[in-house]
Order: sequence, then structure tokens, then C-alpha cells
Amino acid sequence: MQCSMRSADVSRRRLDAVRRVGALCLLAGILLMARAHPVAAAPVAQTPAEGEKIFQEKCTACHTIGKGPLVGPDLQGVTQARDRAWLTRWIMQPDVVLAEQDPIAVQLLAQYNNVPMPNLGLNESQVAALLAYLESQAGGAAGAVQQAAPAALPTGDPAAGRALFMGTARFQNGGPSCLACHSIAGVGALGGGTLGPDLTAAFNKYGDAGLAAFLNTTPTLTMNAVWSRQPLTPQEQADLWAFLQQASLAARDPATLNQLIGLSVVGCAVLLLLAQLRWRRRLRGVRRPMVARATH
Ligand code: HEC
Ligand code: HEC
Repeated sequence: MQCSMRSADVSRRRLDAVRRVGALCLLAGILLMARAHPVAAAPVAQTPAEGEKIFQEKCTACHTIGKGPLVGPDLQGVTQARDRAWLTRWIMQPDVVLAEQDPIAVQLLAQYNNVPMPNLGLNESQVAALLAYLESQAGGAAGAVQQAAPAALPTGDPAAGRALFMGTARFQNGGPSCLACHSIAGVGALGGGTLGPDLTAAFNKYGDAGLAAFLNTTPTLTMNAVWSRQPLTPQEQADLWAFLQQASLAARDPATLNQLIGLSVVGCAVLLLLAQLRWRRRLRGVRRPMVARATH
């Protein structure tokens, strides 16, 4: 019994290691590709229009201007409420500002469910453009440029999204399976990659519109490195969105958990039974010749 447990443990550890190495290779490949095709130097223009473009690509998964909070606060009027130097540092390196225990950052973090704003790898001129755009929107909707309405997604099919996530279906523009870097409840009994976070709660974290915007813009660093080169099509985004929604609902369903516990109990019972059978047979193998010898 102990032996079979140990070997199961070893093979699990081996599988984990293989998966981790796989994810690292993938990341290394992505970084190499990023080197091979350097992105055009960041534009020097710091116009509100340039800032609006960056805002649509990098911020709309988590922020609105004047339409209420999403994952992060509504940014209307933020250029009046906060110091410009603070805003610049924050947008460039929120992780650093938070690590310094900046009082505003600490308070915002607590206020927004302890979800930290990610470092998006923006340079100073991009942030200046963003601030110019936020400034131009500070007066409210009246007379200001309206935020572009997010493109309506086609209806998603959670089964198709699952196949894409697992890698049993291919992305039209290429790209690794989501499972290479992510795990999600109930998918793949052995779980998935560990480079990215578990996505069981992603739907609830971002909400309907936020998650759609996230899948469309993939604003965060690693996600952007992967998917800006081989964008997800609108249909793929919709299918993944539907699958992530389903996974978040399934995770809330206690029946799923009970099923899992039931399965693991049955699994343990089978293992115990097998181990006991082998143990008996081993004894019998020893006993028979001994008995034979004793009776002669
Ligand atoms: C993945 C979600 C996410 C993305 C993407 C994101 N933010 Fe944030 N942002 C947050 C959260 C959450 C907070 C609240 C602070 C915290 O919890 O760390 C925040 C806070 C802020 C604040 C401070 C607001 C205040 O009241 O002082 C500003 C400014 C800001 N973000 C700007 C941006 C800009 C500009 C972008 C795009 C370049 C962006 N954020 C992208 C999640 C995000
Ligand atoms: C190469 C590894 C990799 C692949 C492949 C990948 N992701 Fe990610 N993903 C990450 C990492 C790392 C993060 C954390 C933020 C960042 O650095 O981009 C992330 C973040 C996310 C988030 C935000 C989670 C949160 O809690 O804020 C979502 C949603 C997401 N990924 C969905 C997907 C989907 C859907 C796919 C498949 C189409 C996918 N990812 C494929 C690495 C990956």
C-alpha cells in the first residue's frame, strides 16, 4: 500500500514537473518571438486620441469612464482627484507602488476585493497619452467623446469553448491551449498549467462585460504577449466566455464537489482492495512452501 502510494506520488510529481517545464518552454518561446519581432517604438504623440486607443486596449477589461466600477474603480474625474505624479507612477508600476505600502494603494486594494491592478508594461509616453485622454473625459459625458461601445459578441457555445480551452480544438489563428498555463475547476482531473492563475473565479471577478473585454483585449503582460500575435476570433472569444461562465456556475454547485469527493472515496477503496489482494497473495506464496515443508 505504502509502495503504491509512493509511486503514485512520484508519478504525480513527475507529471507536475513536465507540465511546469512545458509552460516555461512556452513562455521562453513567446519571449524569443517577442525579441525576434520588436514592436514598433512607442509613439511620442501624447494626444487624447492616442490615449483613447491605449485605454480601449489595456484598461476596459477593468475600468469604465463614467459607467461605474468594474474590477477597478470608475476613472471619471481621477485626474482631478489624484496627483499627476502619483497617477503616472501608479499606472506604470502599480505593483511597485503597492509593495511600498503606499497608503492610497493599500486603501484602494482593500476597497476592490484585494484584486491588485496588474503592471501592464506601459512606458512614460503611453501613460502621458492616457492621462491626456482621462483629462479630456473628466467633465462627464456632456460634450465629451463617448466610449466606443464594445462590439457585440456572437452567441457562445460552452462545449466549443471547453474544447479550445483543453486543446482538443485548434485556434483559427494558432496559439497554445489555455490549459497549458491555466487550471479550472472540473476540467482535466489532473488540473492544468500553473504559469497563469486558476480561472474558476475569472467570470465572477471580471463580470459579463469585463470578461468579454478581457478576452477581446488580453491586456495583461503574458496574455498580451501570447494573444496579440494570434488574436482570438470573436467566435472563439464568445465560446471561451460561455465556457468560463459555465465553469464558474459549476464551481458554485455543491453537487460537483460531492461528486468529486465520492469519486475519490471510491478510488481509495479500489486502491485499498487491490493492495490487500496483493498482500494476501504474497503471503500465500510464502506460506504454501512452508506448509508443504512442515507436513513432510
Ligand atoms: C486586471 C484589471 C485592471 C486593469 C487591466 C487595469 N486596472 Fe486600473 N485598477 C484596477 C484595480 C483593481 C484598481 C484598484 C486598486 C487595486 O485594487 O489595486 C485599479 C486602480 C486604478 C487607478 C486608481 C484609481 C483611483 O481611484 O485612484 C487608476 C488611475 C487606474 N487603475 C488606471 C488604469 C489604467 C489607465 C489602466 C489601463 C492602462 C488600468 N488601470 C488597467 C484594475 C485594473
Ligand atoms: C503562456 C501561458 C498562457 C496561456 C497559453 C494562456 N494564459 Fe491566460 N494568463 C496567463 C498569465 C501568466 C496570466 C496572469 C496575467 C498576465 O501576466 O497576463 C493570465 C491571465 C488570464 C486571465 C485573467 C485571470 C485573472 O484572475 O485576472 C484570464 C481570464 C485568462 N488568462 C484567460 C485565458 C484563456 C481563455 C486562455 C486560452 C485562450 C489563456 N488564458 C491562455 C498565461 C496564459
